[in-house]
Amino acid sequence: MTETPAKPVLLTGASGALGRVLATSLSAAGWTLRLTDIVPFPAAIPAGAAFTRADLNDGVTMLRLAEGCGAIVHLGGVSVERPFEEVLGPNIRGLYHIYEAARREKARVIFASSNHSIGFHERSESIGADTQFLPDGFYGLSKAYGELMGRLYWFKHGVESVFIRIGSCFPEPVDARMLATWLSYPDLSQLVIRCVMTPDVGCSVVWGTSNNARMTWWRDDARERLGWAPEDSADPFIAQLGAHVSADPVQERYMGGGFCAIGWSREAPAPPGLFRNE
Ligand SMILES: NC(=O)c1ccc[n+]([C@@H]2O[C@H](COP(=O)([O-])OP(=O)(O)OC[C@H]3O[C@@H](n4cnc5c(N)ncnc54)[C@H](O)[C@@H]3O)[C@@H](O)[C@H]2O)c1
Repeated sequence: MTETPAKPVLLTGASGALGRVLATSLSAAGWTLRLTDIVPFPAAIPAGAAFTRADLNDGVTMLRLAEGCGAIVHLGGVSVERPFEEVLGPNIRGLYHIYEAARREKARVIFASSNHSIGFHERSESIGADTQFLPDGFYGLSKAYGELMGRLYWFKHGVESVFIRIGSCFPEPVDARMLATWLSYPDLSQLVIRCVMTPDVGCSVVWGTSNNARMTWWRDDARERLGWAPEDSADPFIAQLGAHVSADPVQERYMGGGFCAIGWSREAPAPPGLFRNE
């Protein structure tokens, strides 16, 4: 597919795992990219791209980097569970800087949200994209905040967003949970292309997983509007990974897996009926 956006695209978190994947695939698609990250880009800068080293906490530089851009693919920030003070700068203040830049440029934001924004839903549930946020840590909380920030900027300023609630985006699935949550790199790239190129996305949520038979947890998202249908699947790994589960009942009970167990201090899981005014 040779779709190219009319304006440059700003890619934050470009030096990270997914940033490098997208820098390569979007460059190969002929896109003009502005790459940025707090650490240097660890490879040759792809064709059609320029790299600027910057901290998301630096709002003035974020405004400058976004000048003339039509979309911001926002991957930068803390990407695992960390103490609140570490999450605060990149994921809370930094997110604000990205949305201010988007407002000024009338640019669309493609936000790398996460399954950890809803991580305390139980795996026996089937939830739509408009489900309640149940973050499983400070990291997941920052992703829920990001999606709420996007909604504020859509309703107040008309800034469009697509929130990609990424499951597990790695070269291959590595455990039984990922038989449900895995997203392949090619499916991610195609999804980001659709998020940028589709007209009129408004403020949308899409679950970021490949076409996995075991993904029974998540439904009803914006994929049809985006024209995205994942082509890869974790299913060929079922025989190899089906029994690859942890011994931790908390980890295995909830959608967020291991992140739910980090710092867990309840004596028992929350009982049904004491939440949502049930
Ligand atoms: N990989 C996954 O399975 C997955 C799942 C859910 C969500 N996500 C989200 O997707 C995005 C990319 O994930 P990843 O796996 O490539 O993570 P990563 O940690 O490899 O990349 C994140 C990048 O953000 C940069 N960064 C951190 N603090 C910064 C700051 N203050 N200023 C500028 N840059 C900063 C880091 O240097 C890093 O290169 C993240 O937002 C992550 O939360 C990823």
